[in-house]
Amino acid sequence: MARNSRQQLLDFEELDAATDLTPAEQTTWQAARDATAHAYAPYSGFHVGAALLLADGTIFRGTNQENAAYPSGLCAERTALFGLAAAQPGHAPIVGMAVAARPGHGEFGPAMPCGACRQVMLEYESRQGQPIPLLLPSRAGTILRFSALSALLPFCFSPDDLPPAA
Ligand code: THU
Repeated sequence: MARNSRQQLLDFEELDAATDLTPAEQTTWQAARDATAHAYAPYSGFHVGAALLLADGTIFRGTNQENAAYPSGLCAERTALFGLAAAQPGHAPIVGMAVAARPGHGEFGPAMPCGACRQVMLEYESRQGQPIPLLLPSRAGTILRFSALSALLPFCFSPDDLPPAA
């Protein structure tokens, strides 16, 4: 019997430049870029920054943190989310996120969250029960705007897939 062929759409917008962003988005976008200056990336030379905009208007930043024992390091997206949850339990909802990457001390380039970060991003979004819009710099030099982090990880593993705790 023939298998059913299906497609799933990925919904996002593409903007030409930061001037096309809303003022709040511009702040978040710039905070992610600024944060790259504080990455600790002596091994890869790839400086990544992530910024979280909270509903109270504050920004929480993360940067990638590397280690001589390579797998011990962590991406900027996760230092931002884990850092916020650890430092400010009960924080205001996250209403925006942006990521930036700067190879070496050169030009800003594309910043696509890795699979492990997408998994973590998704869980923090579902945990707060409110979508988190995301801005990413594309390979083409444009800005990709997603209305929710969940868009980045279809067919994801979620807490619902786990059996009830004993
Ligand atoms: N990195 C991030 O911080 N975020 C990503 O989404 C991709 C990769 C970091 C991890 C490592 O420190 C460096 O970039 C090179 O992989």
